[in-house]
Amino acid sequence: MKKSLKLLVFAMMSMLLVFVAAACGQQDTETGGEEPQEEQQKEQNEEQQEEAAAEEGSGVVNLYTTRHYDTDEELYKKFTEQTGIEVNVISGKDELVQRLKDEGEATEADVFITADAGNLARLKADGLTQSVESEVLTNNIPEKLRDVDNQWFGLTKRARVIVYSKDRVDPSELSTYEALTEDAWKGRVLIRSSENIYNQSLLASFIELNGEEAAKEWAQGIKDNMARDPEGGDTDQVKAVVAGLGDVAIANTYYVGRLINSTDSEDSKVGEQVGVFFPNQETNGTHINISGAAVVKHAKNVDNAIKFIEFLSDVEAQELFAKGNNEYPVNPDAAISETLKSWGEFKEQDINLTILGDNNARAIQIYNEVGWK
Ligand SMILES: [Fe+2]
Repeated sequence: MKKSLKLLVFAMMSMLLVFVAAACGQQDTETGGEEPQEEQQKEQNEEQQEEAAAEEGSGVVNLYTTRHYDTDEELYKKFTEQTGIEVNVISGKDELVQRLKDEGEATEADVFITADAGNLARLKADGLTQSVESEVLTNNIPEKLRDVDNQWFGLTKRARVIVYSKDRVDPSELSTYEALTEDAWKGRVLIRSSENIYNQSLLASFIELNGEEAAKEWAQGIKDNMARDPEGGDTDQVKAVVAGLGDVAIANTYYVGRLINSTDSEDSKVGEQVGVFFPNQETNGTHINISGAAVVKHAKNVDNAIKFIEFLSDVEAQELFAKGNNEYPVNPDAAISETLKSWGEFKEQDINLTILGDNNARAIQIYNEVGWK
């Protein structure tokens, strides 16, 4: 009896085991079958998302830029290495603005980089840019160097200074932009045409800081003291100082930096013979301007565009980006080049650069009124 009971228990346990094993096996098969199905679905979804993203052009950022330096290309490569986002560069000059206008909604441009807050303000006024909310950008870029509506962001900074002949001018004779209108400077001042945005922005800043009347007096006074009728660009004015056509020029700092660091010995000699003077240090500061970036209104890759501008505002990128054109970084944590260091620190005009766009039309009007061509 005992033996038969043992057998029965054994038989029952064996059956239970087989049952449990079978049940487990079934469960295994079921779960095993379910997982690949879920994964397949997931993969399919991902593929569909990727395809949709590819149609939107994800994975790239299309850049229209009026800058063209080797260091910029290096930076774009670094950005691609870090993010996997390709940078398609279309570089040109002012015609890129017209191109952007003509392309309208169909444009492939995501980011537009150009010089002068006045130019960036025009893009904004023409409805070609959009507002960007980015903590990175607001942290990296001082408030006065970005648009009040965050439609453009300064990336490099330059000062519009007095460049003087080291032979014929002692810097102790220099003080302010306004002082160059005094009789002592008659026939000695070199400056380019008023059609140029740099001079328009300069006068726009004076309108803001000193009022329209004083701005007009300045324009008239400089016109009366010109060494010659305006011709050529800023570099031509600096060269004209060295050639003895005049004794001082008003020019952007990077042109002098470019001459000093030029591999062309003639140019570097020109750079050595002039000094850089930061005017209005005891009053309202030296005029500064920027080159900067905007996200295009009809950009197809807005997230990538923002990532790209954020990358360019970061300390490491800032140092290289600014150096490419002998400019000052906008990010206060970034180091400046040796050439810029040699000129020393200076007090800047304390105005938001958005104002340069606001006052542009009035500045042009004043130049026309005083006959500064
Ligand atoms: Fe320039």
